[in-house]
Amino acid sequence: MCGILGYTGNHQASEILLSGLAKLEYRGYDSAGIAVLENGNIKVVKNKGRLQALEAKIQGEDVTGTCGIGHTRWATHGVPSDTNAHPLWSDDMSVVAVHNGIVENYREIKNTLSGYGYRFYSQTDTEAAVKLIDYYYKQENDPLKALTRAIREIEGSYCFVLLFHDRPGEVWGARKDLPLIAGQGEDEAFLASDVSAILQYTKQVYYLDNMEIVQLKGGLVRFFDTEGYAKPKELSEVTWDAQSAEKGGFDHFMMKEIHEQARAVKDTFGAVYHSGKIDLTEINLTDEAISKLSQIYIIACGSAYHVAAVAQYVIEDLSGIPVRIELASEFRYRNMPLDENALAVIISQSGETADSLAAMRKAHEHGIKTLGIINVVGSTIAREADSVFYTMAGPEISVATTKAYSAQLIACYVIAIQLAKVRGKLDDARYEALITEIQKLPEKIDEILDEAGVLKRIAARFVNARNAFYLGRNIDYAVAMEGSLKMKEISYLHSEAIAAGEMKHGPISLIEKGMLVAGVMTQKNLYQKIASNMLEAKSRGGYIFIVSPRGCDVLKDEADFVFHIPETDEHFTASLAVIPLQLMGYYVAVARKLDVDKPRNLAKSVTVE
Ligand code: M6R
Repeated sequence: MCGILGYTGNHQASEILLSGLAKLEYRGYDSAGIAVLENGNIKVVKNKGRLQALEAKIQGEDVTGTCGIGHTRWATHGVPSDTNAHPLWSDDMSVVAVHNGIVENYREIKNTLSGYGYRFYSQTDTEAAVKLIDYYYKQENDPLKALTRAIREIEGSYCFVLLFHDRPGEVWGARKDLPLIAGQGEDEAFLASDVSAILQYTKQVYYLDNMEIVQLKGGLVRFFDTEGYAKPKELSEVTWDAQSAEKGGFDHFMMKEIHEQARAVKDTFGAVYHSGKIDLTEINLTDEAISKLSQIYIIACGSAYHVAAVAQYVIEDLSGIPVRIELASEFRYRNMPLDENALAVIISQSGETADSLAAMRKAHEHGIKTLGIINVVGSTIAREADSVFYTMAGPEISVATTKAYSAQLIACYVIAIQLAKVRGKLDDARYEALITEIQKLPEKIDEILDEAGVLKRIAARFVNARNAFYLGRNIDYAVAMEGSLKMKEISYLHSEAIAAGEMKHGPISLIEKGMLVAGVMTQKNLYQKIASNMLEAKSRGGYIFIVSPRGCDVLKDEADFVFHIPETDEHFTASLAVIPLQLMGYYVAVARKLDVDKPRNLAKSVTVE
């Protein structure tokens, strides 16, 4: 996600901010900016593009001052541009802020403030929040009171760092569900979204709790709760070196991103869930458009295709609308009948995958409307698609996708529910029950991650393995495909996903003693079917590893290991069953001492054929 910084002390803020932001570059960003407060004026310099461009721009500006804020932006609301870059300001520049996260109710806030005469110049959700804080600041003339009032109204997850024009030497911050730390230096203090940004200046930090407000003033740091009461807090010493700080203390970006999945799921859902309802009007899935749909083509590559495979089951089962899934590299060269009344959904993390882009253009040539499920705002597919559902995974650095996959699943579930609702296939109670289940997924993902240690021990058995099978049926087959890809792409252990019923048609001849045979088993009506396939593998010497929901005791005596995931609605089990499989791939790769984040021969974004 975006990188955030605040500084007050005796040094020139612009220098501290630029070198701190440089330490956040690894996270990925599309624009950057700083603001410096001096003599009641706040000077902002920002631009789309790299930090070097910002540095060059700053050369030509007067940014003298020892108090300021900085930001690297990863676009979520609004394309990467100079205007949408942070900091953003209130109309008279009295409040200037940088923001990480998503203001879910920004439209409502904008509407209310427009009624009070506020005008909006950017496409961002952040601007609504800045102007709301400004609105209360004008009434209260007190940053703390303005912040406490504003954050009572702001929905979503956020971390703000702010300057108030008439508060010399002060930087303010607030957080909810996203990290913010305060650093204590000698006569200086810092705020940062990420400890790596300030490690070069201090290792003494305070960790803000959720829903806390912080003030930097005169080199000191003070904390408040959302009622405005002061809170004591203990200073901690950071023991990480700069490299592990970038990875949030994890050994690899992949593991960090695995742990960001709960947040990615929550934010992706939060972006389209307003006032108790799923709202897809912004992506042109209006009730009218849905009722005219004849069928859906979902087109993608790699893990995104595996999401499509899950989506096919979920959409068809919930809504009854036929879904055809296509590998983009095949779709683009096939001559087949295409239906103008269909919707083509292109799933892509990067939004730049060459095959997916070509497939989308082919759909356009056939007069078919396209919807992109995309993570990178402003990417080519996002720009060319007729409409875009942005996933809120944030920048993904590891080549092996994890959090983007999880966010894409949520986008598909939401679309499936909405199609089903509009087509009259869900009554209100079922609609609400499904939504509640999605809302519980983040917590359940974290529960699974708490059990990671046991998977590390199992993975150690397969450090010298040569082959593995992943079996499943229906949704579980789709999950098996992703689990198998995770294993092979980072650990180089040859693995195949097989629709369990196909085992007897050939693959079963490959089973050898001790071979990992992972079975995904989350669909009650298929428990016994897959159990038989797993027993066939066991009787030929396979090591039987099962992923199934708590309460399922099928194969509990026969399997070599059963990993239980929390229960959820059967349409959403992929979101949970994939987590242990991601961890298995990760731990085998680590045990083999491989470069987990940059596996050989692979690129994060496949922009060539
Ligand atoms: O950026 P995209 O989602 O279009 O990328 C598609 C595939 O290249 C990608 O999912 C790939 O399979 C992953 N690296 C697998 O972890």
